[in-house]
Amino acid sequence: MATIVHRNRKVDPVRVAVVCASHYGATRGIAERIGAELAVAGLDAQVFDAAEPPHAEAVAGFDAFVVGSAVYMGHWLKNATTFVRRYQPTLLEHPVWLFSSGPLGPDDAEADAESLVPAEIADFTKMVRPVEHRVFSGAIDPEALSLPHRMIRKFPGAAEKIPAGDFRDWPEIEAWAREIARTLVASPR
Ligand SMILES: Cc1cc2nc3c(=O)[nH]c(=O)nc-3n(C[C@H](O)[C@H](O)[C@H](O)COP(=O)(O)O)c2cc1C
Repeated sequence: MATIVHRNRKVDPVRVAVVCASHYGATRGIAERIGAELAVAGLDAQVFDAAEPPHAEAVAGFDAFVVGSAVYMGHWLKNATTFVRRYQPTLLEHPVWLFSSGPLGPDDAEADAESLVPAEIADFTKMVRPVEHRVFSGAIDPEALSLPHRMIRKFPGAAEKIPAGDFRDWPEIEAWAREIARTLVASPR
């Protein structure tokens, strides 16, 4: 693990918690890629499932947070929203980045940016003042879907809006993680 030395003083690596909520693993994959990229940049990054977040004392030990969720019917998953609401005071005191994993289809993430932003983000922007919220294209394997999700996909027009496939843009995700790392390494703690 790379440590940063400032004026002959050894400084511990910046500790980043990457917390994600994922139904079928697509968002978890994005979170893990972000964590891996932050680690390559020399940060101490740990990835958590929002269903099993770090306990309160551990949360207080992180220098920065990346919080993301899959989007279903225009909303973040509950475990992710619970994490943000529960730790709002801590998050507000630290740099926070939010991401959503949702749109499917080759160009959907750029198609209509405003309408792709989940309902919670306006509130969260006020609550934790994130550096940024980013929408990433997601992935769906129709074979893996729960019965209720299969039913939703059967609604007229839904299958076109929720096409099968893996549309995650890894270079875009990695570039975002590197941007986060650059910001954190450059900013004093
Ligand atoms: C029933 C259903 C509803 C969905 N609703 C939305 C939505 O409202 N907005 C969106 O951007 N993506 C939506 N998606 C796409 C998922 O958010 C996307 O596939 C995501 O990457 C899944 O992540 P996960 O595997 O981590 O759960 C929906 C997918 C399904 C199956």
